[in-house]
Amino acid sequence: MWYPGHIKKAKESIKKNLKIVDAVLELLDARAPYASRAYEYESLFRNKQKILIMNKYDICDQEKTEKWIDLYKEKGYVVLKTNLKSENIKKFLENKVAKHIPLNYKEKRAIIVGVPNVGKSTFINRFKGKKSTTIGNTPGVTKGVQWITVNKEIKILDTPGILFPELYNKSIKNKLMAIGSIKGDDVTKDDAVFYIFDYLKVNYPHYLDNIVEKGSSKENAYEFILEFAKKRNFIKKGGIGDYYRGRNTFLKDFNDGIFGRVTLESPEDYEQIKI
Ligand code: GTP
Repeated sequence: MWYPGHIKKAKESIKKNLKIVDAVLELLDARAPYASRAYEYESLFRNKQKILIMNKYDICDQEKTEKWIDLYKEKGYVVLKTNLKSENIKKFLENKVAKHIPLNYKEKRAIIVGVPNVGKSTFINRFKGKKSTTIGNTPGVTKGVQWITVNKEIKILDTPGILFPELYNKSIKNKLMAIGSIKGDDVTKDDAVFYIFDYLKVNYPHYLDNIVEKGSSKENAYEFILEFAKKRNFIKKGGIGDYYRGRNTFLKDFNDGIFGRVTLESPEDYEQIKI
């Protein structure tokens, strides 16, 4: 599903609720610090305190991601980094986030936004200590908008993951597929896998060596995926690797950070950065 109806509804709901919050917590994937920014929010959130939370910091290439953090800080954002799978969320909110939320009402109110799969369900569920929303590697799992009471002082409004397809060029789409924010069809999955392969080949060539048999060719993505499939025992009649199973597993493993720490973009890659 590329642009489901609930995303449109979620955008309307976010707009409506913005009037009653003092800060915006934007959750990002630290492996794609620009592509995973929901940068259309900028126009909506003009007068709000903005706090960028770089999640999945545990599986990003920290040196590359830090360049983005410096850039965002220079532009006036508060930037925090985390691994929501292991962070104590209550302490994180109370000790690191709360001080940046202005107090305009009787309590501090923030809205949490982000593209799908950046970790919003993990954030909310781990905070609440029970499975109140479905967590999964499936974009668009969080459907409703709900208030979370952190303590007497802070309240957070959770929102569904939303996308801005009209703003995405091919490269952004590939990155969003690589981090699991867009699911895609056969063609776009091929594009994303080929893109990841080329990126790893140039930037992290040793990761590719580790996931196929020694001496395998890394000339082209298709051949590589066949080798990868064989290594995983996805073998078709005649001893050939099963391309489709190999491709889907490659995409999933990449998204889970199994190959190694990766960040898919640097500020230098962009001619113009709209933030
Ligand atoms: P939608 O519901 O689609 O909007 O997704 P979401 O943003 O709620 O993402 P969710 O919490 O479902 O997390 C997506 C995947 O990322 C899950 O497999 C999580 O376990 C994983 N994940 C979340 N936070 C982290 C993190 O800090 N590090 C790592 N390595 N994985 C994480």
